[in-house]
Amino acid sequence: MGAEQLALLGGTPVGAVPQDPHPTFSDACIQRVVDHLRGGRTVGLNKGTDVVRECEEAVAAWQGVEECMAVSSGHAALHTALMGLEISTGDEVICTPYSWGASVSCVLHCGAVPVFADVDVETGLLDPASVEASITPRTRAILPVHLFGQPANMTALCAVAQKHGLVVVEDGSQAHGSIHAGRKVGSFGDAAGFSCMGGKLLASSEAGYMLCHDKEVYWKAALNTQHMGRCSEPGYPDALRPFVDSLVYTYRASQLDAVMLTEQLRKIDVENAGRRRNVALFKRHLEGLGSIAFPRFPAGDDPAYHMLSVNFVPEHAGVTRATYMQALSAEGVGTWPYVPSPIPHWTRFRWQDYAGPRIFWTDQLRASGIDYASVEVPNCVTKVARSLEMGWNYVADEPARMERLAEAFWNVERNLPALREWERKEVLV
Ligand SMILES: Cc1ncc(COP(=O)(O)O)c(C=O)c1O
Repeated sequence: MGAEQLALLGGTPVGAVPQDPHPTFSDACIQRVVDHLRGGRTVGLNKGTDVVRECEEAVAAWQGVEECMAVSSGHAALHTALMGLEISTGDEVICTPYSWGASVSCVLHCGAVPVFADVDVETGLLDPASVEASITPRTRAILPVHLFGQPANMTALCAVAQKHGLVVVEDGSQAHGSIHAGRKVGSFGDAAGFSCMGGKLLASSEAGYMLCHDKEVYWKAALNTQHMGRCSEPGYPDALRPFVDSLVYTYRASQLDAVMLTEQLRKIDVENAGRRRNVALFKRHLEGLGSIAFPRFPAGDDPAYHMLSVNFVPEHAGVTRATYMQALSAEGVGTWPYVPSPIPHWTRFRWQDYAGPRIFWTDQLRASGIDYASVEVPNCVTKVARSLEMGWNYVADEPARMERLAEAFWNVERNLPALREWERKEVLV
């Protein structure tokens, strides 16, 4: 690796490092989808449909939980999970301020009130101590997100939940196959929601799934989110039958997605292992590079890399993150900060002066009286300011790619004095 001049300053770029295509579908998967279409079967309302049952049983077995319900999206999965646990009007749910909005909108769509705890500053994952400090008499649930495929500390979060009589709903949308304490995430909480849209680790076209251990939760979730056809599944409780109707959210998954998910499951372990090997190699190449710090995980935890999230160290680099990203980008490496700001500080949480289109949950927030703008989540603010994300569809073992990726970072590192000088002049202009 040479100390070439920075591409930003006119040097030759290290060059882009292509990722593997994602998602990919095996020939068997494509054949099954085609056969299914040829068979003219697109309606699948419940486990009585062979491909729905096959998908839900395969996902449940792979995840290590009793129950799975295939649904139309990750948001649908989370909303379904919360409704299965009867989270409703005025209930408080402790959320992370550092995520994709759907990790919180699912709470809003129950008529419930999100209360934001702070995160671990390295990983951006919910901090169990802050969660415990956020509990009030109205708290009903905790909603941890395994962001970027990093496993949240489910051992500590479940202990807090148990101590205070709360339920836990995991958002595993970015974390299929992520391991906490030797077990797959999604199996710790009372329920979990996963997205399977095309960009996710377990990708179909648009779909998701809800997991739970307790069949009661499954039935209650189905009552509100699925076609009444679900009530013809064996074991449907008589107590719920009087309430079965079509006053539901239409969150069922398509049969084609059920077929795709079953087939995608056959290769996800191999793909996740490849992503992990590439991260390990990349990390080795970056040893000693001071501008970037990798989040650390306890023994027994093993992220699944939907994205790679690292932390920029401005004290070392002596330039802003924006300048650093610009220099990397000129070398051919794209990075971006995934979460723009803490969620409670987003415009639509400012119910006091909200002037956008009418939506019921802004009224709900108003009724709560919580001043979200003043919610203090200092670790989240730091994580937002430092985090750098990279797409991580590096599955195949091609060591030259990790070398080249690292070379781009090292080129910036070796040229930090020149980059500082460039930044200083840019600021003066
Ligand atoms: C963490 C997280 N939760 C929930 C979702 C929602 O998933 P979907 O887009 O399938 O509704 C996403 C999607 O990106 C996500 O990243």
